[in-house]
Amino acid sequence: MVVGEPAGKRKSNWNDYQTIKYILKQYYMRKKIVAGNWKMNMNLEEGLKFAKSIEQYFSEKPPAGSEVILCTPFIHLQGVSEILKPGKVALGAQNCASESSGAFTGEVSAAMIKSTGAQYVIIGHSERRTYYHEDDRLLNKKTVLAINSGLNVIFCCGEIKEEREAGKHLIVVKRQLEDGLFTLSSEEMKKIVIAYEPVWAIGTGLTATPDQAQEMHHYIRGLVREKYGKECAEQITILYGGSCKPSNAAEIFSKPDVDGGLIGGASLKKEDFIAIVEAL
Ligand code: 13P
Repeated sequence: MVVGEPAGKRKSNWNDYQTIKYILKQYYMRKKIVAGNWKMNMNLEEGLKFAKSIEQYFSEKPPAGSEVILCTPFIHLQGVSEILKPGKVALGAQNCASESSGAFTGEVSAAMIKSTGAQYVIIGHSERRTYYHEDDRLLNKKTVLAINSGLNVIFCCGEIKEEREAGKHLIVVKRQLEDGLFTLSSEEMKKIVIAYEPVWAIGTGLTATPDQAQEMHHYIRGLVREKYGKECAEQITILYGGSCKPSNAAEIFSKPDVDGGLIGGASLKKEDFIAIVEAL
């Protein structure tokens, strides 16, 4: 409010101020996350040792205003869960079964994951979509089961190189979200973190430019707004993944619709992973 201005003008300034304050509040209310996806790396001993060193670091220097998650192979979940103190670093799996229990040799159910103390599960990673032919319908089934088992879901989406080159990246991601995710209720959507991972950027050293990431994240938030309303859209965390490293993390995270990262290769190196968390 500027003293001495006519009352009418003052009121309009005050409204602008309120609007900006509201937008900032919504923005900062969003949970910021850096999640490490170990993929199929580290034996049990190596994994536990690594988790211990990460836990130790963040016990001494808690990440300011952001959540750190370790998404480990199944065999590490129980051991890592015992290492991680509540509230410091969270734990997630990288996949779950599409059935709740029974004769499904080799599978691990969402309820089993939950019973280890894990809070998250990644669903729809492009490596699962490509190598194990997981389609949107199956991923939707897994997502519903995971939420019903009390887990939060990091739901991945992203286009392949040819789709981007053909200008189809927005439409591809829209279909993945509509078919895989948008059957959920508003209440269930509160358990979802979306991770945009352009397939051409995963493990390739090619990173989406900050503007490419922002364009897609803004688009995704718009889709959530259309389906679930403004509040849900403003509160949902949208992560970027794909060759994210200490040298590019800060610039990508500086974009208004990027709320953190899902990190592959760089999450296996303590210094790099910590540097990425600190970039956020
Ligand atoms: P990279 O960080 O190794 O590119 O992997 C990203 C990813 O797939 C995270 O889930």
